[in-house]
Amino acid sequence: MLDKYEKRALLITGGIIMLFIFSLLYAMVKEKIQVTDCLPYNKVYTESKVTRLDERSYQVFAVARMWNFEPAQIYIPVGSEVDFFLTSKDVVHGFNISDKNVNLMAVFGGISKTTVRFDQPGVYKITCHEYCGVGHENMQAEVIVNYPERSYSKD
Ligand code: CUA
Repeated sequence: MLDKYEKRALLITGGIIMLFIFSLLYAMVKEKIQVTDCLPYNKVYTESKVTRLDERSYQVFAVARMWNFEPAQIYIPVGSEVDFFLTSKDVVHGFNISDKNVNLMAVFGGISKTTVRFDQPGVYKITCHEYCGVGHENMQAEVIVNYPERSYSKD
């Protein structure tokens, strides 16, 4: 027989969990928030690169390490959709893109993936938001949307 306080604690806990699940579903469906995918580890992603798939689609393999991001600069045209594949060469790093609601973790042996559209020209700062050592605050990169013009070869 459960004590009435025990029962109350279970109900509250269950309620909070339901609330979390509901919030996540709400964010995905209503706000169209991209929930990060975690892909199986593959060596391919440990080499940083930017690949142009077509006019407005890009793939970025981003590699975090103490204490920088590669590539440090990503140039794309306005209206591009970018798939980011992120991994780390050492400790856990963060990957936050300003103004973009992107908050990924770079984990050694893991690949985090998300897709972001850049409809406004500008420079979007990428910063590490997980404390990763003395060089943490220097970990930055940027997505440069149509400024200056530059293109990648298709491959
Ligand atoms: Cu990398 Cu903080």
